[in-house]
Amino acid sequence: MDAFLAIASRRDERRYLADPLSEETVDRILDAGRLSGSSKNRQPWTFVVPTSRARVEALAEAVWAPENVRAAGLVVAIVVPVGRAAFDAGRAAQNMLLAAWNEGIASCPNGVRDGDAACRALALGDDEEPVIVLSFGRPERARDPESRAASEWSARANRRPLDETVREVA
Ligand SMILES: Cc1cc2nc3c(=O)[nH]c(=O)nc-3n(C[C@H](O)[C@H](O)[C@H](O)COP(=O)(O)O)c2cc1C
Repeated sequence: MDAFLAIASRRDERRYLADPLSEETVDRILDAGRLSGSSKNRQPWTFVVPTSRARVEALAEAVWAPENVRAAGLVVAIVVPVGRAAFDAGRAAQNMLLAAWNEGIASCPNGVRDGDAACRALALGDDEEPVIVLSFGRPERARDPESRAASEWSARANRRPLDETVREVA
């Protein structure tokens, strides 16, 4: 998929089919995160993937939208040193979300409601914190990015217009 079409057509989705993701798709998503740039190329992140049902459940209880995490085919917590590197984490997150969309996989970021519970669910050390929890899955309502031009996706997006978003300073 064209990179701009992927950006313009992607929306966060919270409802997934029960199908598991293939190993290749999971690897592709995680590798997109690994490839992200970061300040001084420090790569401060760890992508923590809960694999047991018990850990996914415990993590679901710690985010704002538990059902989204419970139903996901893949859950990835982006973990960084406490109080640092949130921007770097954001870059890794968006790379993963877009790489997933390129594979037809929907996704949604989940804010952490209870940090202590999330740390326990993810078995994190004292110096680590989860910046965001990403859920991925095959979308319940399929949307074909190629069904519209990128400019059309852009025009229909529920976003502030560019002239309200950009301020030029001479
Ligand atoms: C930092 C961050 C935290 C978010 N947390 C949640 C969340 O806890 N629950 C949720 O349903 N969506 C969450 N979202 C998704 C936003 O609601 C979503 O990006 C926004 O509504 C735009 O959605 P759209 O791409 O479908 O238009 C989060 C997004 C970001 C960037």
